[in-house]
Amino acid sequence: MSKRILITGGAGFIGSHVVRLFVNKYPNYTIFNLDKLTYAGNLENIKDIEQKENYTFLKGDITDPIYIQEIFQKYQFDGVIHLAAESHVDRSITNPMEFIMTNIVGTATLLNASKALWKDNFKDKLFYHVSTDEVYGSLHNDNEFFTEQTHYDPQSPYSASKASSDHFVRAYHNTYKMPVVLSNCSNNYGQNQFPEKLIPLFINNIRNNKPLPVYGKGENIRDWLYVVDHARAIDVIFHQGKLGETYNIGGHNEWTNIDLIHLLCKIMDKKLNRPEGTSQKLITYVQDRAGHDLRYAIDATKIKNKLGWEPSLQFDEGLNITVDWYLENTEWLESVTSGNYQNYYEQQYANK
Ligand code: NAD
Ligand code: DAU
Repeated sequence: MSKRILITGGAGFIGSHVVRLFVNKYPNYTIFNLDKLTYAGNLENIKDIEQKENYTFLKGDITDPIYIQEIFQKYQFDGVIHLAAESHVDRSITNPMEFIMTNIVGTATLLNASKALWKDNFKDKLFYHVSTDEVYGSLHNDNEFFTEQTHYDPQSPYSASKASSDHFVRAYHNTYKMPVVLSNCSNNYGQNQFPEKLIPLFINNIRNNKPLPVYGKGENIRDWLYVVDHARAIDVIFHQGKLGETYNIGGHNEWTNIDLIHLLCKIMDKKLNRPEGTSQKLITYVQDRAGHDLRYAIDATKIKNKLGWEPSLQFDEGLNITVDWYLENTEWLESVTSGNYQNYYEQQYANK
């Protein structure tokens, strides 16, 4: 069956993996990638698929209702997979308004445009909202996990904005019967993640012999999932998820930050042929993140039992692939840390 699917945020980290998977796996779908190309959006992340016939890039802002309505009317999307967001917790602490605009107003703008286009004829239509486990807040007991029934308790401006957007998506389902599906995923790692997030930042700093800023005591726990496995889960949920439902996605892979950092240091020393212990000396304990959530851990039983999805990679394998990718793509790292990548759109698209 042919479909016209709008993927938002497809020049970002996770979005680029989702766009690649859909463009390559579904040649009979037309994939539209809508992205504002903020600091986090980089078209070089998907340059391997940009010439494909079933792919179109649209540069635009999800908070601009006129532009959004225009593209919905013009391209008549059947489905939306919504990933565009401001995604970094530290930035949300310094600039919450940007998160409120993009994550809340942007999501509502897309919901309104979908409602206006689809009217009440929702047959074969779907609005898929990609969210985060951070909406559930912070776990304090080892035996607790986030399930789909866990009450929302967001603690940062980022997670509060994502929680709010989740509520709007459910409200459109409840009020207007819009067909929606949601997923809440744990921490992703892998190729093309902007080096402000823990793993790529630390790989880059080790490479450049720069300090590794560990927040607080490094005791916070995250549940890490390889980004391609998240993209696979999104594919499964988009095609088989039950309307109105939520699926938690996680890696069954909890690490305290400090243990993960030690592992990364060890891997990096080996790959860079440095004596063991070299990178560890770069560890620098710094002031804790304000309101730092202690632990995230996902119970992914529902998606496993109902849709048959499981992570495909073991963490050591995924981390090795990831470190190798960053070490082989130092140009990408230089380009995103210098800001040069922002010229790519002008060079490739703007004058065409
Ligand atoms: P990212 O920051 O790498 O990418 C976000 C993308 O959205 C960028 O390409 C950016 O240009 C685009 N964007 C931002 N504002 C926009 C706007 N106003 N209009 C159009 N495009 C805009 O983010 P990511 O880490 O890939 O996360 C993608 C989604 O997945 C987010 O919704 C995030 O909340 C969610 N998520 C992320 C993780 C994670 O570990 N990174 C885990 C679970 C869920
Ligand atoms: O859980 C899903 C979420 O994971 C996503 O919704 C977010 O978009 C994504 O950014 C991520 O949020 P975190 O805050 O968990 O990720 P981050 O990589 O920023 O930090 C991971 C942990 O490492 C966290 O406990 C804070 C700590 N940290 C982070 C940085 C950048 C440090 O100790 N030092 C650092 O320099």
